[in-house]
Amino acid sequence: MQYGYFDDNSREYVITRPDTPYPWINYLGSEDFYGLFSNTSGGYCFYRDARMLRLTRYRYNNVPTDAGGRYFYLRDDGDVWTPSWMPMKSKLDRYECRHGMGYSRIFSSRNGLEFYQVSFVPLRDNCEIHKITLKNESKIDKYIDMFSFIEFCLWNANDDMTNFQRNFSIGEVEVEGSRIYHKTEYRERRNHYAVWAVNVPVAGFDTDRQTFLGLYNGFDHPDTVFKGESNNSIASGWAPIGSHHIKARLAPGESQTYVFVLGYCENHENEKWERSGTINKKPANTLLEKYGSPDAADRALAALNEYWKNLLGRFTVDAEDKKMARMAGVWNQYQCMVTFNMSRSASYFESGIGRGMGFRDSNQDLLGFVHLVPERARARILDIAATQFPDGSAYHQYQPLTKRGNNEVGSGFNDDPLWLICGVAAYIKETGDYGILDEKVPFDNNEALADTLFIHLKRSFDYTVTHTGPHGLPLIGRADWNDCLNLNCFSKTPGESFQTTANFESGIAESVLIAAIFAFTGPDYAEICRRTGRNDEAQYAEKSIAAMIEAINNHGWDGRWFLRAYDAHGKKIGSRECEDGKIFIESNGFAVMAGIGTNDGRAQLALDSVKEHLDTKYGIVLLQPAYKDYHIELGEVSSYPPGYKENAGIFCHNNPWVTIAETKLGRGNRAFETYTKICPAYREDDSDLRRMEPYVYAQMVAGKDAVRHGEAKNSWLTGTAAWTFVSISQYILGVRPVFDGLMIDPCIPSTMRGFSVTRRFRGADYHISVDNSAGVEKGIKSIMIDGNPLDGEALKKLTLPAFGDGKVHKIDVVMG
Ligand code: GLC
Ligand code: GLC
Repeated sequence: MQYGYFDDNSREYVITRPDTPYPWINYLGSEDFYGLFSNTSGGYCFYRDARMLRLTRYRYNNVPTDAGGRYFYLRDDGDVWTPSWMPMKSKLDRYECRHGMGYSRIFSSRNGLEFYQVSFVPLRDNCEIHKITLKNESKIDKYIDMFSFIEFCLWNANDDMTNFQRNFSIGEVEVEGSRIYHKTEYRERRNHYAVWAVNVPVAGFDTDRQTFLGLYNGFDHPDTVFKGESNNSIASGWAPIGSHHIKARLAPGESQTYVFVLGYCENHENEKWERSGTINKKPANTLLEKYGSPDAADRALAALNEYWKNLLGRFTVDAEDKKMARMAGVWNQYQCMVTFNMSRSASYFESGIGRGMGFRDSNQDLLGFVHLVPERARARILDIAATQFPDGSAYHQYQPLTKRGNNEVGSGFNDDPLWLICGVAAYIKETGDYGILDEKVPFDNNEALADTLFIHLKRSFDYTVTHTGPHGLPLIGRADWNDCLNLNCFSKTPGESFQTTANFESGIAESVLIAAIFAFTGPDYAEICRRTGRNDEAQYAEKSIAAMIEAINNHGWDGRWFLRAYDAHGKKIGSRECEDGKIFIESNGFAVMAGIGTNDGRAQLALDSVKEHLDTKYGIVLLQPAYKDYHIELGEVSSYPPGYKENAGIFCHNNPWVTIAETKLGRGNRAFETYTKICPAYREDDSDLRRMEPYVYAQMVAGKDAVRHGEAKNSWLTGTAAWTFVSISQYILGVRPVFDGLMIDPCIPSTMRGFSVTRRFRGADYHISVDNSAGVEKGIKSIMIDGNPLDGEALKKLTLPAFGDGKVHKIDVVMG
């Protein structure tokens, strides 16, 4: 069953009933201020860091789910209802929620009263705007009371949920007219406060939660709203909230619009106070003056729309397959922006207090984002590299606010260093900016240890070369890409983290996946060396890569597929010799991506084995057979019940590796099949089972061993976004930035008769149309550039030059 539909013209997903199988959310905000916004107006917002600077409170794993957000209660002649459906679950005559690019709208009506909400974070300002319109569509005058409601978080979200002995005594607010200020801890070390304001005079307000709701009431029964009158309560300790009471008299046909602003304001240390005890409201005044009218809010929304139109104009797709076209052209890229911004910090599955920016995650997120805002990708690369250690290893995570490596998690994930090479190579291929290699970047956030980014790459490369085990394969450390393959952990203590527990380095446990990542990304390093005149280094790199490939050939092949690893006893993992976990997806996808076995039939065999043993209706599972028991020598992977997460779940992130690998073999039909199986738009009418948003990828779909096979979890924040975008845009549609220019090398299903793509690349626009009336899966007969044939070397390399001339170029490609 479907709960909505794609509106392709407006780039919105339209949800047509509020009781979706899970809250279906959107992200507001593009750079510093963010909001999570569900289809029933649930969620919360924060400035920069979801843990340290959270403006509104949100209770995860709550009952009922998704209670808490920005709510507007309406009281229409005694009839009390919530137009966003939650929290009262009001019966609505109409309901529609439209999630768009950085904004969401909710439209609903009841008894002839129409409610229209549009919520967004304007470009460059640190606030959420909620523009609300009430319209009387009935035949009689209406007397409406509207009550706004948000609940403040006392900034540090972790402390907010745990430290009640302190927090119940520190809450402070100020109220001035229609402006409610939340200033907890401002009296001491904070220099920021929140403001919740509306642009019209109010009849009253509340700032104390208990007064507003009633101690034993939920959000679904606020005493104040039923009573129809605010109490003008001033919070002192306990739980500060913000609620405005607005009275409106609406004649038939009449409407009223209000602009609510929820903002983050900062003052300079010396300018915190207007006078003793009264906060300096200058920054709030500036913000609220700017967004003081519906017109101003509309202009800000129009600017946001323009911004997204421009961004998504950098890569567009037109094809008969609308599901593919809307995912690749719009929603997949949108999700890439979100993963770039959030890493794995804040979603409806990530609490915003746990993980910061992941070293490997953020490098991979870049891959799907770099074409959108290359300058931001550049800055991110430098931030990430600064958390690398001088020996090339890296902090596994860093905090977005401080940009410092996270000591609690530490380092020791031996795949991490290589992802930096992968991210930087993608950036240079996109932009041609080799200058980034000369940027001075600290090691371990220590300026005294700064060296060029190139040296960072070298340390990454060398780290892998110098950390190999008995078979010449890379040592795995705490884990590789698969966080749950903890071969040096041997954990017996309940609750202990598999990733951060005192590890011993066996010097024996090795990863075939890291070897394959090295073989895939190493050549880019060698190429970068050559192109910057470092020929000796390039030769050394090529020799090291050749040695690694030999190690894979000698010790990483199991007969019909690639092995996954060797454990700390030197036993094979991912081998036909194993009882469970005979075959894994990751090493097979990556080895073939790296071109290993493509000349001798092993690549084909490996991918055929993946299909035979791991494929399901909903995607490719991570391993088979699932581990039934806990294996102390394997770690977390065997801790999950069969079919979930890394233990044979469909861990979507690695499916596009197989897709890309299939295109290496020219098998466009199969490549596309693996692409569509995990692609949410193709499962829109299966939403009761899949449950997650049909417009975004999820990290995991339950595998065939699980009870709920096909059910997705962890939507939004997953490397799946970047990798699927790479797989569809660069390998299936085949428009791929390379060092020399833009390569055109599609590998599509034979039934796809053509498609067109526009691509902005290094300052020029490429309007590419591909004709596949020949019905092939791969292969190019001719390429015309502005009417002239591409020939010679360039045609052999299938590579268009980087025109860099600010012009539009018409590219006609014929497959065959
Ligand atoms: C999660 C982590 C990612 C890891 C993956 C597989 O997505 O964020 O870093 O590679 O799980 O374990
Ligand atoms: C598991 C999760 C992964 C996370 C890791 C560490 O691997 O699948 O997403 O990174 O645990 O918490």
